[in-house]
Amino acid sequence: MTECQTLAEPLDVMIRLLSPEGKQNPYPLYEELRAHGGLVRLGETHLLAVGHEQCARALRHPALLQTDAAMQDLRMPGWREHSSWVWLTKNMLFSNEPDHERMRRFFSSAFSAHSVAAFAPMVERLADEAVRHLERLAADGGSVDLVEEFTYRFPIAVLGELLSIPEKDLPGLHPVIAAITTSMDPVSDLGRLEPADAAMDRLAEYVTELVALRRAEPGPDLTSAFIRARDESGDLTEEDLVANLMAVIVAGSEAPQDLLGNAVRIAVEHPEYAERIRRDPEFVSRFLEEVLRFDPPVHALNRVAGEDLEFFGEKITRGSAVTLLIAAGNRDPERFSDPGRFDPDREGNKQLTFSAGAHYCLGAALARLSAETVLPRLLRRFPKLAVVGRPGFRDQIVQRGHDRLPATLG
Ligand code: HEM
Repeated sequence: MTECQTLAEPLDVMIRLLSPEGKQNPYPLYEELRAHGGLVRLGETHLLAVGHEQCARALRHPALLQTDAAMQDLRMPGWREHSSWVWLTKNMLFSNEPDHERMRRFFSSAFSAHSVAAFAPMVERLADEAVRHLERLAADGGSVDLVEEFTYRFPIAVLGELLSIPEKDLPGLHPVIAAITTSMDPVSDLGRLEPADAAMDRLAEYVTELVALRRAEPGPDLTSAFIRARDESGDLTEEDLVANLMAVIVAGSEAPQDLLGNAVRIAVEHPEYAERIRRDPEFVSRFLEEVLRFDPPVHALNRVAGEDLEFFGEKITRGSAVTLLIAAGNRDPERFSDPGRFDPDREGNKQLTFSAGAHYCLGAALARLSAETVLPRLLRRFPKLAVVGRPGFRDQIVQRGHDRLPATLG
């Protein structure tokens, strides 16, 4: 910024960020916000954490809480009319202690690094199948939409296998999951939650049926294991089980889809990195870690002050919202040198994309294993893969990624 340029007001920058153009390319707007500091006040009861340290500390602050039902009552009167938010507040992500820990403990060991390592042969088989599916489409010539045919298809196939969701149901879940993620974006008019509400009701119905089916006919899958654990203990209600399975299905498919979409696009933009991905397994994880930093699937997380507190010198009153722009934190020059440059060889890549603290992503190990397995297979099989036209981004900011990625496979 030159001396004669004036700083744009944070609220004006936020309005631009929430416009369709801002969501397409939010990064310059994050820098405009950063010019005001690492913690930016938007109004009496709303702050934005823009810096890496501010985001990282907020994620571990015991009084900065998730927007659970009690916090929603403070922040969003009328939210109980909307089943998207009613169901969200029943899962571990939108819960605080002690409910969060009570629920998380039922699901965490299934997705630990140790458990996930044992999924590797299954993930490899499904990655081979995902590439074979593209081979069949390539035989027809023309371009394919990688979102529909690859970046959604592969992660949901992995989840489908783990949770025993019938394969025939997987394509139909895509619009349902996509609509649900829109409920996490800021809305000025609660009426705009209606598509997400309808989708959430549909998913609740679907998962309730799946649970009934697996309870009647248990198998070696995780759904059956979670049902058994719940039935043997008094600590999880049926509703907790359904709500958290729904959360696993949504969180476990949409963000991995966005990671793969961004990874493929960036690899194609940098042929030298695509070549290293084909040859060097160690490089693949470094590359993906940098994709997670540079162009993450999740841009913003919300917290609410559970009590009056002081944070980085700012007085925050109970009920105030703190929005953590983790995608901006990932580009903080105080933490990363030359943060606007995509550099998979950077050392100490402490990206914030899987969050931190109590709500650290339950599926991080699965997301990493899945992407590391499928990306080299894709690029080896289709060395001439090219993105054609302009890839589209969904009109969302919290969960950001391609809704269309037309490509020719060569
Ligand atoms: C690239 C892929 C992924 C990204 C970027 C991602 C990101 C995140 C983030 C940022 C959070 C915490 C939000 C917060 O602190 O408010 C989170 C939590 C969570 N994620 Fe993921 N996620 C990914 C993949 C997955 C997968 C594959 C699963 C499937 C098991 C999953 C399941 C969950 C669950 C259940 C939580 C809630 C954890 C809790 O509240 O304790 N995620 N994820």
